[in-house]
Amino acid sequence: MTAEAMTGGPTGTGPVLEFRGVSAGYGRIGVLADVSWQVRRGTVIGLLGPNGAGKTTILRTVCGQTTVTSGDVLLTGQQITSRRTSDIARLGVAHVVEGRGILNGMSVLDNLMIGSYGRPGEIKDRLAGVYELFPRLSERTSQRAETLSGGEQQMLAIGRGLMMDPVVMLLDEPSQGLSPLMVDTVLASIRAVRDRGVTIVIVEQSPDLLAKLVDEVVFVAGGRTSAPMRPTVLNDPDILAPVLTQGVLPAAALDAEPQAVPSDNRREGR
Ligand SMILES: Nc1ncnc2c1ncn2[C@@H]1O[C@H](COP(=O)(O)OP(=O)(O)OP(=O)(O)O)[C@@H](O)[C@H]1O
Ligand SMILES: [Mg+2]
Repeated sequence: MTAEAMTGGPTGTGPVLEFRGVSAGYGRIGVLADVSWQVRRGTVIGLLGPNGAGKTTILRTVCGQTTVTSGDVLLTGQQITSRRTSDIARLGVAHVVEGRGILNGMSVLDNLMIGSYGRPGEIKDRLAGVYELFPRLSERTSQRAETLSGGEQQMLAIGRGLMMDPVVMLLDEPSQGLSPLMVDTVLASIRAVRDRGVTIVIVEQSPDLLAKLVDEVVFVAGGRTSAPMRPTVLNDPDILAPVLTQGVLPAAALDAEPQAVPSDNRREGR
């Protein structure tokens, strides 16, 4: 076994992303308490929990935007704890933020090109890939980003993430404010991103939506996380109600060890 494979490097079999006992927050305000979790290559992981649970803070911690007081964050086995956000992006983490974070006053094309910053390679091919996935964007390359519809803005945000040819994409409530029809379009595009081999972490408020997408779900409440669970728990009110209404994480006895599906097999299977 190569050293890279042992560490879960770019071609390895280890987790793409891993938290080991991470406590983090904002300055002196603690939010996450001893969070340990792993994201396996080629999977879609859902983070679900009530408002203020710490879901966004988990994604920000991956991106070096919080104060980590203990523990380690690893990307393909590489220590990234508290590294600069731009360095973490260069290593292949695409963060599609809550509220989309597109740049107003700039065109669709400029927004996409900014996504490729710091990740050199076949930019033209990546752009073609984004336009293939989102033909609507290709029809609107010179339109100012803020004049796009909500759904188109979400496509742009995901497209911008794809422009960096990411290893892992973090999506923070991509369905927010969208019509049911547009939610289905965005879900289909997230599946297409996964089918291109990108590992995905998605934060959502809706168990029903996550049930259509994820391989594993991790509950978040009070800055703590549950063990990874099978998506069938998303249809189980006995598990959902306590965590979503009272912030009570499922007991360890309910933990299930899901099977990761290699993305290559999945492509043929669906
Ligand atoms: N910049 C900040 N400074 C101080 N506290 C913050 C900051 N951002 C978030 N928090 C606090 O951290 C806690 C977790 O917030 P976070 O945004 O991670 O929750 P969330 O699970 O994403 O919630 P929501 O579902 O409402 O988006 C909250 O108590 C919030 O007030
Ligand atoms: Mg949030």
